[in-house]
Parts: sequence; structure tokens; C-alpha cells
Amino acid sequence: MPDWSPSKYLQFADERTRAARDLLAQVPLTAPRRVVDMGSGPGNSTELLVERFPDAEMIGLDNSPAMLEEARLRLPNVRFDMADAATWVPEPGTDLVFANAIYQWVPDHLAALERVAAALPEGGVLAVQMPDNMGEPSHVAMNVVGLGGPWASRLRGKPRPPLPPVAKYYDRLKPHLGALDIWHSVYNHVLDGPAAVVEWVKGTGLRPFLEPLTADEQTEYLKRYLEQIGSAYPPRADGKVLLRFPRLFIVGVK
Ligand SMILES: C[S@@+](CC[C@H](N)C(=O)[O-])C[C@H]1O[C@@H](n2cnc3c(N)ncnc32)[C@H](O)[C@@H]1O
Repeated sequence: MPDWSPSKYLQFADERTRAARDLLAQVPLTAPRRVVDMGSGPGNSTELLVERFPDAEMIGLDNSPAMLEEARLRLPNVRFDMADAATWVPEPGTDLVFANAIYQWVPDHLAALERVAAALPEGGVLAVQMPDNMGEPSHVAMNVVGLGGPWASRLRGKPRPPLPPVAKYYDRLKPHLGALDIWHSVYNHVLDGPAAVVEWVKGTGLRPFLEPLTADEQTEYLKRYLEQIGSAYPPRADGKVLLRFPRLFIVGVK
């Protein structure tokens, strides 16, 4: 897949960073030694961590060169390194592993999170947030358009699998943690119209669907996708649309 686009991702920076703020608010630490922001992206979540823990050793990790470059420009005093969340485990002394909107992209992320939890020191915290929106109209429509066009054979199997049930996270992570809090929050983002919904997912969920298509096919796919989104997200009283967005949060303390 082509690299992530930091500018496209940051188009809805306030809305996307809100979940990171809500996750951080539940992290019960005052003076962590080392903090890792796994999937640090353009550094928006890392910036929150630096504000909250100015004395911690801060490390941002990501597997996108473009995102790492953007993050280094944003926070020149923080170390940003390349790492793959599928295999990464924290070094000793890492008191907080923070991962906002990244593990949903990692195949078998339950196993990856289990390894991270197992490697935390006593009192260490694992804080994770993942979109739980594969059943939302925004994401169902990606597949409807994907399977209903001449590109169907190339787009089969492109959607991410839905997240496993909460009980699975609990059963896999709890043996490694003393306390484990798992909850959902549903955001209702106010966007300008259906085209804004399309712009939002272009930076994230639509990427695997657009990547296999030619430029002309992408234009046609996006036209059909916009039609679907127009019917699924009708205008509200002020002409805006509400993008319903459920997210899963996990905070575990070793
Ligand atoms: C949706 S962004 C999240 C950025 C930021 N954490 C935030 O709170 O907005 C997801 C990030 O995860 C990174 N990512 C995806 N798969 C990854 C993997 N296997 N290992 C490391 N980073 C990954 C992407 O490059 C991207 O920067």
C-alpha cells in the first residue's frame, strides 16, 4: 500500500485527536520513566503525551516514513523511530505504551497486544484506542461499491475484519494485567456534508480500496461511494451531517 498522507490525515485533526485526549485522560500515571507512542502518525498524539508528561523519555514509533518525517518536524526534541507494531515489544523501563488508532491495522493485534502487556514492568500501563466502525454505513458502503463494480475481483477481502468482541480482549489481556478497563465511546462528528465524510475516510479506511485502482477507476469508485454516503448521511437541521463513530478503549495497568 502507498505511504500514509500526513496532510490528508490531519485534515480532521481536532476530531481525530479527541479520542487520544479521552484515552490519555484515563491513564493513571504521574511520572512515567519512558513513554512510547506506538503508531505516532504525524505526532498529534505524541504532542499530548509530551504536554502531560514533560519529564518522561518520549519515543514515537511508526512504520510510515512520511508520518515519521512529519512527526520529527512537529516535535524536534522527541525521538521518532521506525517500528512494526506486529512484532514490537516494549524495552524494560517503559511505563506507558500509548496506541491511539493504530492496532486495528495490525493483523492478529490481540497477540501483539498480549505480548506488549506481558512485557510491561510492574505498574506499567497499556492504553489503546481503536475505531470499532466496520459496521457503520461509512465502511459498509466501501464494500458495497467495491463488490458492485468492475474492480470487484481486486477489492474482495479489502475491508479490515471487525474488531473481536470485548470479552476476547479481556480474556487475552487480563492474565498479564492487574486492572483492565474496556469501554466504548460513540462520537457524532459534525461534518459539512457527504463529501466531508468521503474526505475523512480517504485518509484512513478507504486507502486499501483506492490503492489497487487506476486513476480513472478511483474517480468512478469515489463517485459511486459519494452517492452511497449521500443516502446514508442525510443533512441535519443546519445542513450538516453527523458521522457516527464508535471507538473501543482499553486501559490496562500491570
Ligand atoms: C490513524 S494514524 C494514528 C496517528 C496518531 N496516533 C493519532 O492519535 O492520531 C495510524 C498510524 O499507525 C501507523 N501504523 C499502521 N500500521 C502500523 C504498524 N504495523 N506498525 C507501526 N505503525 C503502524 C500508520 O503509519 C499511521 O501513522
